[in-house]
Amino acid sequence: MAQYDVADRSAIVTGGGSGIGRAVALTLAASGASVLVTDLNAENAQAVAAEIEAAGGIAATLVGDVTDPGFAVASVERAGELAPLRIAVNNAGIGGEAAAVGDYSLDGWRKVIEVNLNSVFYSMRAQLDVIGANGGGAIVNMASILGSVGFANSSAYVTAKHGLLGLTQNAALEYAGRNVRVTAVGPGFIRTPLVEQSLDAQALTFLEGKHALGRLGEPQEVAALIAFLASDAASFITGSYHLVDGGYTAQ
Ligand code: NAI
Repeated sequence: MAQYDVADRSAIVTGGGSGIGRAVALTLAASGASVLVTDLNAENAQAVAAEIEAAGGIAATLVGDVTDPGFAVASVERAGELAPLRIAVNNAGIGGEAAAVGDYSLDGWRKVIEVNLNSVFYSMRAQLDVIGANGGGAIVNMASILGSVGFANSSAYVTAKHGLLGLTQNAALEYAGRNVRVTAVGPGFIRTPLVEQSLDAQALTFLEGKHALGRLGEPQEVAALIAFLASDAASFITGSYHLVDGGYTAQ
């Protein structure tokens, strides 16, 4: 497991109960951070916190919805009780319905934009000043390869992830003076419940072939990049978008 020293600070991981968020929470905790695992799903969040504690780490959970701006504030307060908040990984997200733009439902569109884009604004709005006041730190926002290329029948998801890159750049510019670095990551298709539950075996095989490495990624491979970006080892990195996509966008 990749490890960078992030001791003496707390980290919020949204959507930390499953998939990539779970791997990020475990990796940050193994690297010394006290991790607040937030999720809609209480059972999964608690299971991840228990896994961290069993490995000798420090964790807590907070159950709620990232589309509630008040939940973002409560998360920052709860993380601050563990240790000074200096890391946030805004990871929670959903896939949304599959439809062409002309057929996309209004409710489906609004839901994906709210969960995958607006929630990151709500989260950062609560996180940035506090991280700055704690001496600085890092926010990593979960974009996707679909933050820079399209994917037919996923317009709301693609739009949200593209928007996230602009939001990331702006926050980076505005908070650099307070030593808060803000970056985004762009994973290719990663083997998580989100992907496995929405795609059949044929679609998964097709997607494997879209990555130059000929397979999907594993959550841990994304967590390794995020642990680096969140740590002081990445001290000259801000405002940027980092792919971890097995060569998907190189073709
Ligand atoms: P996942 O479905 O395994 O985990 C997502 C977690 O977020 C779940 O625990 C879920 O309960 C939580 N969540 C969803 N909506 C929430 C809400 N409104 N409030 C609080 N928690 C909520 O999904 P996965 O694959 O780990 O995805 C995590 C992030 O990575 C998402 O933002 C996704 O768009 C992004 N991503 C995933 C890729 C993949 O291929 N799996 C590729 C690129 C990006």
